[in-house]
Amino acid sequence: MPFTDNRSFKAAPRMLVSADGMYYRTPDGRRILDGTAGLWCVNAGHGRESIVRAIQDAAATLDFAPTFQLGHPLPFVLANKLAAIMPKGLDRIFFTNSGSESADTALKMALAYHRARGQSGRTRLIGRQRGYHGTNFGGMSVGGIGGNRRGFSAQLWGVDHLSHTHGGTAPFTRGMGTTNQDIAGELEELVALHGAETIAAVIVEPVAGSTGVLVPPRGYLQRLREITSAHGILLIFDEVITAFGRLGSATAADYFGVTPDILTVAKGLTNGAVPMGAVAASREVHDTVVDGAGPGIEFFHGYTYSGHPLAAAAGIATLDLYAEEALFDRAGGLARRWEEAVHGLRGARHVVDIRNIGIVAGIELTSREGAVGARAMEAFHRCFDEGLLIRVTADIIALSPPLIVENGQIDEIVSRIATVLGQID
Ligand SMILES: Cc1ncc(COP(=O)(O)O)c(C=O)c1O
Repeated sequence: MPFTDNRSFKAAPRMLVSADGMYYRTPDGRRILDGTAGLWCVNAGHGRESIVRAIQDAAATLDFAPTFQLGHPLPFVLANKLAAIMPKGLDRIFFTNSGSESADTALKMALAYHRARGQSGRTRLIGRQRGYHGTNFGGMSVGGIGGNRRGFSAQLWGVDHLSHTHGGTAPFTRGMGTTNQDIAGELEELVALHGAETIAAVIVEPVAGSTGVLVPPRGYLQRLREITSAHGILLIFDEVITAFGRLGSATAADYFGVTPDILTVAKGLTNGAVPMGAVAASREVHDTVVDGAGPGIEFFHGYTYSGHPLAAAAGIATLDLYAEEALFDRAGGLARRWEEAVHGLRGARHVVDIRNIGIVAGIELTSREGAVGARAMEAFHRCFDEGLLIRVTADIIALSPPLIVENGQIDEIVSRIATVLGQID
């Protein structure tokens, strides 16, 4: 099973059999309040009728159609809807089936772009410590999680990493903090070390999610943008978690006011209902690759299921639902209430830091001696048994409920966590 302690799971399986709105249900009929939108993806809540219907209709109409040298209408409709909410200028869309595929697609686009403009020496990719870009070879290599890399000795050649953004601001900072450190300025050092002419792209999550909700300090992303632009390096935002209202706007790029050259999405694109990802590229990147190619195929890349009818139908219904219910604005309106509530855990047993932005929070616990992650894992199990789904990474609890969460449910999430933390050593 993915990222699972298989032996523990087999010894005591925790199963989910259905879901509706803010709740999962277990085989014995218990309701589990979803504090994590599944895995950061079910932004509109579970079992949404219009999405279910769209998938059913698509399956009955066109179960599959190849998208190599052929087309069918749904991905084009979805591409237009997606382009309309991407940052201005990022309106060229390529479909994938997951966040990992989106990351690798974006990296390959960056290499293809430089090659097409006669700079094929730009092959180096820069990621960031504590970054997560999925588990394929590209994403793994630019990712900065030791555990995801160490077991697999072959990494992409020429990758380097920036320092992570954590630790520059004070613990219990609400939203974005300030720091005197020029963390993004480190990119200038990497440019000096390797030469800009060898660097294709920098890829970062605007807010690092999987390694425990690391909110960038003010000005950080702007500075990355300035440095990349100055050196002809493409900037890629991995928005697999941050897009689709998580921060109260369509994208984190919008939220922070920084436009990358390439932006990746997945998860919330279909509300998690059918696997799908996408990469949005600027016209400059797209046109350079397409116009720079000889006759025939311009970008030798793609997947059998790129733009799959069921996924595209789910995506269209999802984006329509987000708009109809103004869910991104709803999340923005809830953000202050969310912040107040999660910071109410300051002083709870074991808690050493709380971070938040939009409808996301990271609650960091002290680790047990010699057993990093054991305390949070126990909290995860206990919360589940108490009817609450949380996500944990090392000893950090990460929260990201569906954007339909009500105030009372926010309070419930926080009070159950406080109770559980009070019960465990
Ligand atoms: C920022 C980011 N990129 C990529 C991925 C990988 O997505 P997937 O699991 O769909 O391959 C994730 C998954 O959590 C993610 O958070």
